[in-house]
Amino acid sequence: MKDQIERQFVDISDVRDVPVGKMKHADIKENEILIANSEGKIYALCDRCSHMNAPLSMGTLNGKVVTCPIHGARFDVTTGKKVGEPMSLDPSMFPEPIPESLQKIFAHSAQIQSKIRTYDQPTYETMV
Ligand code: FES
Repeated sequence: MKDQIERQFVDISDVRDVPVGKMKHADIKENEILIANSEGKIYALCDRCSHMNAPLSMGTLNGKVVTCPIHGARFDVTTGKKVGEPMSLDPSMFPEPIPESLQKIFAHSAQIQSKIRTYDQPTYETMV
């Protein structure tokens, strides 16, 4: 016997609140949802970055790609697929040399981040 999964839509926003190229955060029960208007179509995906939990809705949306505001991982809002890995700070790119103690901190942080996997974002069906 197959389990039946009941689809349920929740009214979360007036579509006019999310103009083309903009995003909005919504709380639905215990889920944080990113609503994105990419090129006139509305998409919904998990608003917590799969890297280190930052709110993607505070990032930037260019076309169909949202960029995480913390480390720059990128996701396609139409599919939830990761299209760019997070970036760590590279102290060699700083305009001025930084103290050795800070270089060690950045190097340690980069080492830790390299162990964190970033996955595709869960998506949700939308209906306008
Ligand atoms: S929290 Fe999003 S890229 Fe790190």
